[in-house]
Amino acid sequence: MAKTATAGAAPAAIAGAVPAATDGCHPPYLQWIKSFESGSAEIDALHRALLEECNELLQALEDGTAWPRIVADAGKLVEGCIQHFRHEEELLAWTRFPRRAEHVAEHRRLERELHGLLSSMSMVDGSLDEHREYPRSFAPMLIEFIIRHDLDFRSHLLRQQGF
Ligand SMILES: [Fe+2]
Ligand SMILES: [Fe+2]
Repeated sequence: MAKTATAGAAPAAIAGAVPAATDGCHPPYLQWIKSFESGSAEIDALHRALLEECNELLQALEDGTAWPRIVADAGKLVEGCIQHFRHEEELLAWTRFPRRAEHVAEHRRLERELHGLLSSMSMVDGSLDEHREYPRSFAPMLIEFIIRHDLDFRSHLLRQQGF
């Protein structure tokens, strides 16, 4: 079993076994680990891209990037997550995943949560640390809900490929 991600640890890394940086650079905030593999190389590539996008957002936050830009980037990340959900839902329909309806329902719940977070961000100016906790909370959400939740269909996809 992979190490469990912990929330709210920025700027430290929060997923996978990431060593502390020794060169003065920030380590990646989220790191892909093998146990995140979903049974689909295509889905894995999309998950990796979302992790990277989230890392860029967290880095921009630590760099003191202007808040409107942070909000805009967070909006793109949320849009990317939603597109990913649609793509995954098509794959689950095509491969006849028996728990597809439950998985889709969880995606919808997540979408509401992501939009809620975005809306909270747009109502503040980023001047307080508590404002900056909003974008930071995307990281544990990505790990726990977008990637780990998908382990539910891993054995189904692997079985279909004859593993
Ligand atoms: Fe996913
Ligand atoms: Fe999913």
